[in-house]
Amino acid sequence: MRITIVGCGSIGTTLAHAADNMNEVKRIYLLDKDRHLADMLASQLKKAIVIDSVEEELYHCDLVIEAASQEAARQILPAVVSRGVDMMIMSVGALVEDEFRNSILEKAKTYESRVFIPSGAVCGTDGLRAASLESLDRVELVTTKGPKSLEDVPYLIEHGIIVEDLKEVTTVYSGPAREAVALFPRNVNVAATVSLLGVGFDRTLVTIVVDPEAHSNSHELRVTGAFGEMTCHTYNVPAPDNPKTSHLAALSAISALKRIIRNEWVGI
Ligand SMILES: NC(=O)c1ccc[n+]([C@@H]2O[C@H](COP(=O)([O-])OP(=O)(O)OC[C@H]3O[C@@H](n4cnc5c(N)ncnc54)[C@H](O)[C@@H]3O)[C@@H](O)[C@H]2O)c1
Repeated sequence: MRITIVGCGSIGTTLAHAADNMNEVKRIYLLDKDRHLADMLASQLKKAIVIDSVEEELYHCDLVIEAASQEAARQILPAVVSRGVDMMIMSVGALVEDEFRNSILEKAKTYESRVFIPSGAVCGTDGLRAASLESLDRVELVTTKGPKSLEDVPYLIEHGIIVEDLKEVTTVYSGPAREAVALFPRNVNVAATVSLLGVGFDRTLVTIVVDPEAHSNSHELRVTGAFGEMTCHTYNVPAPDNPKTSHLAALSAISALKRIIRNEWVGI
């Protein structure tokens, strides 16, 4: 298999090193808007070469993996799926807009391309996916963050909430995922993944909690429905090279790649 990794930051670098050691991966094309980062990463790998655009090697590529930004995902997705090439997306927030998402899924169907969205920084997506086959009464994502992750959020400043001054665990927002992802863009990926799997952006409830003692993000996924009840709590550690990213997100990308290339479908 030949893969393209777009974004040579925290997730892209961890993923590229893992892919370099997978026998099934024969070639890794690397792309970053900062060419120096792609060159540096390529120099550490056996199978990588640097490219200047995704289109450059699309005919030779089986899977494009975006680990860059929402903007990059929105830009690349139409071209990749229209060529019938599979695509994995880490910046899931790129799919919040209904019209764009539907057009991508339509194109993917037409050109027989597959769009993969790893579970990322949240656990419990397997159960939610199965449970959503029947009626769901409530899907709630409670995300707890340290004050540092919520500095400079305009919504909080407008409401007079100074997160650095909070002395106790405090809920600073509760509302539909569609509004939450607009007000708290750093929370967008997990909220988007949960919304896409369950009851959509308007019925998924997102609660944001500030814990003055927290140094990383935790996510509690609470689901009730015809299947019963589920509560799944993920206490993340930050990625060593990017405190804004949970390490589990890179692991979920590696695990998704392994499942795709080895056809291992345990626990789906
Ligand atoms: N799904 C999840 O649960 C989850 C969890 C963590 C992070 N993420 C998302 O994954 C993405 C990557 O995260 P990261 O921690 O590796 O970020 P990072 O900032 O460490 O690395 C991103 C890299 O992408 C490059 N880049 C940005 N825009 C680009 C473009 N248009 N074209 C080419 N390269 C571009 C940057 O130069 C940078 O090197 C982010 O969008 C992040 O929000 C998703």
